[in-house]
Amino acid sequence: MRFRSLLDLVPFLPAILAQTGNSSKGSTNCRCLYGQSCWPSEQDFSSLSAQLSQPLIRPVPPASACYPVGNPSGNCSDVQQNWSDANWRADQPGAYENINFETYTNRNDSISGCYLNTTLGLPCDQGSVPPIGVDARTVEDVQAAVRFAGQHNLRLVVKNTGHDYLGRSAGRNAFMIWTHHLKNISYDGNFIPEGASNNEVVPALTLGAGVQWREAYAAAAEQQRFITGGISSGMSVGAAGGWVMGGGHSAFSAKYGLGVDNAVQFTIVKADGDHVIANAHNNSDLFWALRGGGAGSWGVVTSVTYKTYDLVPLVMSVINAVMLAYTVETWTAGDSGDIVRQARQRIAQEVRRLDPISPDSATYMNEASLYEPDFRKSFFGSHYDRLRSIKRKYDPGSLFLVAEGVGSEDWDGSLICPV
Ligand SMILES: Cc1cc2nc3c(=O)[nH]c(=O)nc-3n(C[C@H](O)[C@H](O)[C@H](O)COP(=O)(O)OP(=O)(O)OC[C@H]3O[C@@H](n4cnc5c(N)ncnc54)[C@H](O)[C@@H]3O)c2cc1C
Ligand SMILES: *[C@@H]1O[C@H](CO)[C@@H](O)[C@H](O)[C@H]1NC(C)=O
Ligand SMILES: *[C@@H]1O[C@H](CO)[C@@H](O)[C@H](O)[C@H]1NC(C)=O
Ligand SMILES: *[C@@H]1O[C@H](CO)[C@@H](O)[C@H](O)[C@H]1NC(C)=O
Ligand SMILES: *[C@@H]1O[C@H](CO)[C@@H](O)[C@H](O)[C@H]1NC(C)=O
Ligand SMILES: *[C@@H]1O[C@H](CO)[C@@H](O)[C@H](O)[C@H]1NC(C)=O
Ligand SMILES: *[C@@H]1O[C@H](CO)[C@@H](O)[C@H](O)[C@H]1NC(C)=O
Ligand SMILES: *[C@@H]1O[C@H](CO)[C@@H](O)[C@H](O)[C@H]1NC(C)=O
Repeated sequence: MRFRSLLDLVPFLPAILAQTGNSSKGSTNCRCLYGQSCWPSEQDFSSLSAQLSQPLIRPVPPASACYPVGNPSGNCSDVQQNWSDANWRADQPGAYENINFETYTNRNDSISGCYLNTTLGLPCDQGSVPPIGVDARTVEDVQAAVRFAGQHNLRLVVKNTGHDYLGRSAGRNAFMIWTHHLKNISYDGNFIPEGASNNEVVPALTLGAGVQWREAYAAAAEQQRFITGGISSGMSVGAAGGWVMGGGHSAFSAKYGLGVDNAVQFTIVKADGDHVIANAHNNSDLFWALRGGGAGSWGVVTSVTYKTYDLVPLVMSVINAVMLAYTVETWTAGDSGDIVRQARQRIAQEVRRLDPISPDSATYMNEASLYEPDFRKSFFGSHYDRLRSIKRKYDPGSLFLVAEGVGSEDWDGSLICPV
C-alpha cells in the first residue's frame, strides 16, 4: 500500500495503532485480534485443544456453503431452504438470527459479509463471525477457554443461540465460546439452593447454558410442571443465556414474573476460571447482578436453576389464552425487527388484558437498540454504580465485554481498546 500524503493515512490510523499496539495511550491494553502478530500460535491452540472434550471449531457465515460460486463448498440449496429457520441458525456457531451481525462495517462504510445472493458478485467475507472457538460441552471446556482468552488477551465472545438484538454474541476476529451444546436438563422436586436451610425447598428445573425454550418447556411438561419462559416461533431463544440475564420477559410474566424472578441459582465460570455457584446465599452480589445486570458481562454461565409451577387447570387456561394470542399475532424468524417489535407490542397488550391486576413489567434491554443515548441510565438506572463495583470485583480485567454492557463505557465502540 502506498500513501500520497500523511492525510491519506488518517482513516487507517486507528487500525495501525491497534495493530502495533504501543503508539498511543493505553493501546498496549488493546485486545488481541485474529490476524495480528500477538494472536496465539498454532502451538498455543493445540495446547488449548488438548484440554478440551471437542476439537476447536472454525465458525463460518452460513452462506459460505454457497462459495466459491462455481464450485460450492457445501450444500447451497440446503442453506437457501433453511435460511430463515431460527433453530437451523442456532445450530451453527457462525450463524446469527439477524444476519446483519454476520457482516462487518468497514471504516469507509462499505460492508464485508457473505451474502446468500451470489449473483451480487461479492466475495464471501468472514464479517463479524469469530474465526475460531470452543464448542463447550463440559465445565472444564469453559474453564480452559476462559483462561486461554484471558492469558492471550483475546477479544472474547460468548455465543449461545445468536439471537441477540444488539449483536453481542458476534465480534470480528474474536475468539468464541459456544455454549449451544451445554444441554443438560435436570428436575429436582426438592431442590435446595446451595447454602440454604432445609426448609427452603423449591421444585426446580436446572438448565444447561445451551438449552432452548422448546427443550425447557418439554422437560417441564414431562414432569407435569410449568416453567415461565420466552415464546417465539420455533421457541429457539436460549433459556439460560442472554434472555434471563437481560430480565427474561415472558408472555406469562404478568402472572409468574420475569425470568429473573424465577431464577434461584446460577453456576458460572468467572474471569479467573473458577466455577462457582451464585445464589441468595453464596456470591449473592453476583447473583443480584446476573438477574438483570445484562448478559455477557460477568462470566460464562454454565447453568440456571428455575422455580417451576404446578400444571394445574388454572395455569393451563392462562397458557392456552397466551398461546392463542400468539397464534393470532406471530412473526417468523426472517421478519424485520420492526415487524417483530410491533407484533410483540400487540401481544403484550393482549397479555395485559389477561391479568388486569399485575402490570406487565417489561424492561427492555433484550429488545433495545445499539444506539441508546445512555445505556447506563436506560437499562440500569440507579443500580449502575453497584453493578459497576460488582463488575470490578468479579472481572477486574474486563474480559467479558459486550455492547452497552456494564463497564463497556471504558472501551471503544468495537470493544477492542480502552478509551
Ligand atoms: C425470535 C426472537 C424471540 C424473542 N423472544 C423474546 C421473549 O419472548 N422474551 C424476551 O425477553 N426476549 C426475547 N427475545 C430477545 C432475547 O431474549 C435476546 O435476544 C437474548 O439476548 C437472547 O439470548 P441467547 O442466549 O439466546 O442469545 P445470544 O445472542 O447467543 O446471546 C445473547 C447475549 O448473552 C450472552 N450470553 C449467552 N449465553 C451466555 C452464557 N452462558 N454466559 C454468559 N453470557 C451469555 C452473549 O454473550 C450475548 O451477549 C427474542 C429474540 C428473538 C430473536
Ligand atoms: C511495542 O510493543 C512490542 C511488543 O508488543 C515491543 O516488542 C516493542 O519494543 C514496543 N515498542 C515500543 C516503541 O515500545
Ligand atoms: C442438499 O440439501 C437439500 C435440501 O435440504 C437436500 O434435499 C439434498 O439431498 C442435499 N444434497 C446433498 C448432496 O446432500
Ligand atoms: C432444510 O430444509 C429442508 C426443507 O424443509 C429440510 O428437509 C432439511 O432437513 C433442512 N436441513 C437442515 C440441516 O435442517
Ligand atoms: C473499503 O474498505 C474495505 C476494507 O478495508 C476495502 O476492501 C474496500 O475496497 C474499501 N472500499 C472502498 C470503496 O474504498
Ligand atoms: C440478487 O442480486 C441481483 C443483483 O443485484 C438482483 O438482481 C436480484 O434481484 C437479487 N436476488 C434476490 C433474490 O434478492
Ligand atoms: C451433565 O450431566 C451429566 C450427568 O449427570 C454430568 O456427568 C455432566 O457433568 C453434566 N454436564 C455439565 C456441563 O454440567
Ligand atoms: C461460595 O462462595 C465463596 C466465596 O464467596 C466461594 O469461595 C465458594 O467456592 C462458593 N461455593 C460454591 C459452592 O460455589
